[in-house]
Amino acid sequence: MNTATIKFDAFESLKNEDCQDRIIEAKKTLGDKIVILGHHYQNETVYRHADYSGDSLKLAQYVQNLDAKYIVFLGVHFMAEVSNILSRPEQITVLPDLSAGCSMADMANLAKVERTYRELSKVLDFDKTITPITYINSAADLKAFCGEHNGIVCTSTNAPNVLDWAFKKREKVLFFPDQNLGRWTGHKMGIAIEDMPVWDPDLPLGGLTEKQILESKVLLWKGHCAVHQMFRLQHIEKFRELHPEGFVISHPESPFEVCQNSDYVGSTEFILNTITQAKPNTKWLVGTELNLVNRLANEMKPEGKLVQFMSHVVCECSTMARIDPQHLSWTLENIIKDNPVNIISVPKKEAELAKLALDRMLEIS
Ligand code: 13P
Ligand code: SF4
Repeated sequence: MNTATIKFDAFESLKNEDCQDRIIEAKKTLGDKIVILGHHYQNETVYRHADYSGDSLKLAQYVQNLDAKYIVFLGVHFMAEVSNILSRPEQITVLPDLSAGCSMADMANLAKVERTYRELSKVLDFDKTITPITYINSAADLKAFCGEHNGIVCTSTNAPNVLDWAFKKREKVLFFPDQNLGRWTGHKMGIAIEDMPVWDPDLPLGGLTEKQILESKVLLWKGHCAVHQMFRLQHIEKFRELHPEGFVISHPESPFEVCQNSDYVGSTEFILNTITQAKPNTKWLVGTELNLVNRLANEMKPEGKLVQFMSHVVCECSTMARIDPQHLSWTLENIIKDNPVNIISVPKKEAELAKLALDRMLEIS
């Protein structure tokens, strides 16, 4: 059956409740032809339809073991690219809204990374001295750059293992695009803060002196997550004053002093597992995206656990939120008509190089 693509206009004004029924129906019709993967930050209205959920690493690992023809990704663009790269050639990855990006991933691009390569090459032999590590929150061409230059990808779960791997190969690391994850991971490995200067890709030599570059261990790309950047030490102090017996848990994309003053730091999956497995009636201040915190707060209520969001400001990831029931039902109904929309397809050469860097990561995860 190959009929014309259904336009999104027909779904735009549908109510969330109406979309819910249509999504359930479409999933029934499609059966094992599709699998829906959902990141923990997705809104409840779509997250409930995910067949599997997880953090970036877990979702990448799922992709390698799926048989469905269509992988519908409830997440952001870089996650869907990883799905396309790691799935089989005949499988199709679909992102319900193409504008679901990641503002942190956009803080690095290939032109800037290649310029960085040229700038650093004025001071040292890049390929012999530096391992480029890209956080999985980055475009596929940056993963390809890492694949080509003996580098690797990391996630918030495996960053310590990846850094360890990198230092066994070469003496320095260029870590992009999240300075906070790089700094926290390096610090936990015992690297001094002064040995991890910030590299500003918009300045000559990254805004550093040759001496600073030569003496550095980790060059931290000047990038961050706008959502996690909102968390403050004062939020933690206030919580501890009110609940001295409580616990603070944060995602490593949070500012350094927030991580330093947290009881636990880890990926979204780690946060979810830690709070789920905690004793009843415990109290938690959580420094990560709002949808995950709200979901945990509701699910933990029956056990008497208090789960509180770290900021007073609403810190929803606005790009994750682009995936709504309207886009999901539109996507599924087009798949039923054999007219998939919003296919994510990384160019072949780029995908091969990016896969090298991803495979290196998966091997040590
Ligand atoms: P996780 O891999 O921990 O799920 O993090 C992804 C992300 O984008 C956090 O902001
Ligand atoms: Fe990107 Fe931050 Fe959103 Fe995670 S929370 S997807 S890092 S913008």
